[in-house]
Amino acid sequence: MLAGRQELGLTGQHWVHLCPVNVKEPHVPFHGQYPLGLVGTSVLEKGNHRAASTKHQQEKLWEKVIPKVDNLTMDNSGHYPVLIGAVLAALQPVSGSRFVDATFGGGGYSRALLDAGAATVVGVDRDPTAVERGRALAAEEARFRVVEACFGDLADVVDDPVDGIVFDVGVSSFQLDAPERGFSFRADGPLDMRMGAAPRTAADLVNELQEAELADLIKRLGEEPQARRIAHAIVQRRRQRPFTRTLDLADVIRATLGRGGKPGIDPATRTFQALRMAVNDELGELERGLNAAVSRLAVGGRLVIVSFHSLEDRLVKRFLRSATGETPQVSRHRPPVEASSAALLEPMGRRVVRPDGAEIAANPRARSARLRAARRVATDGTEVAT
Ligand SMILES: C[S@@+](CC[C@H](N)C(=O)[O-])C[C@H]1O[C@@H](n2cnc3c(N)ncnc32)[C@H](O)[C@@H]1O
Repeated sequence: MLAGRQELGLTGQHWVHLCPVNVKEPHVPFHGQYPLGLVGTSVLEKGNHRAASTKHQQEKLWEKVIPKVDNLTMDNSGHYPVLIGAVLAALQPVSGSRFVDATFGGGGYSRALLDAGAATVVGVDRDPTAVERGRALAAEEARFRVVEACFGDLADVVDDPVDGIVFDVGVSSFQLDAPERGFSFRADGPLDMRMGAAPRTAADLVNELQEAELADLIKRLGEEPQARRIAHAIVQRRRQRPFTRTLDLADVIRATLGRGGKPGIDPATRTFQALRMAVNDELGELERGLNAAVSRLAVGGRLVIVSFHSLEDRLVKRFLRSATGETPQVSRHRPPVEASSAALLEPMGRRVVRPDGAEIAANPRARSARLRAARRVATDGTEVAT
């Protein structure tokens, strides 16, 4: 039976039978082996591992499992797949099922789905370096293929309906940790921030936008209260010399804002985030990607989205409300408005899942992650208004 936490260790790559009893029952959420050390151990400790034989029981199990699933170990590539236990619980990769990992990145989700018995996984990423990692996986795993594409174009990438599509949106550790990609305000690099092919770099934006446009971008996508001051400082400085390097821009922002902000948060954080989101049109991509995903899910197929930023999560929440036929709540004092169109999705389990303290301690970058999931209920591919 499963070892205790200390026996497993916190960082080793262990092959653990999560639910040995469930292997005999193909319809339960967890089965097979995951190279993920501690995923689900607390579930087993709490005794929730009994086979769930009906859809209702599976849902109940999902609800119970999610808040308790741990994710404390790296995958084989030295990367932490965020909320991996909850992702697997939501996707329920029973053998024979087909999945799309719309944000392949380091391949953590793809590997876990394959290890859990998926018949096929298609990994999608717009970043050629992530696609290279995907090719390496495809070379050793015939059930996997990788496509270099934006997930906004998912409808062109996926031909047949699939049983699950997962998005883990935003920037990867691989991208953040490579100074030459220009995402980081901690290490010097070219002010680039393109994940893949994109028309403009971050340097193009800071050197070319009007001051008011720049302020609006930093406020809207970075939710930066000091956006005007930052935009003004950038425009003053670029008159002498255009920005080409990340640290140069970060230093100007730090000098403008001083040390007054939240302790431990670099003053350049929000501006860098805004620039990255603008360069890669991240919100536009997400909206197109979610619509495309709904059109490619088989009835009963699952859509799982992990986001890190309140703007992304708000978009996801609105999208799911609209796609599940639930109308936005105008005011809690007024009766809800009638749903305007037929539901394409039905909500699954809890509305939002967040990493627990143990996962955040093991991987601080997971701290703002939020997972939402829904299941496809109809077959018409109508565009969903967000
Ligand atoms: C947070 S990482 C995903 C990590 C992955 N789940 C894992 O376990 O390794 C996000 C990845 O999505 C990719 N990405 C972001 N936006 C994208 C888009 N619009 N289309 C395709 N890939 C995108 C990034 O290039 C990055 O590799």
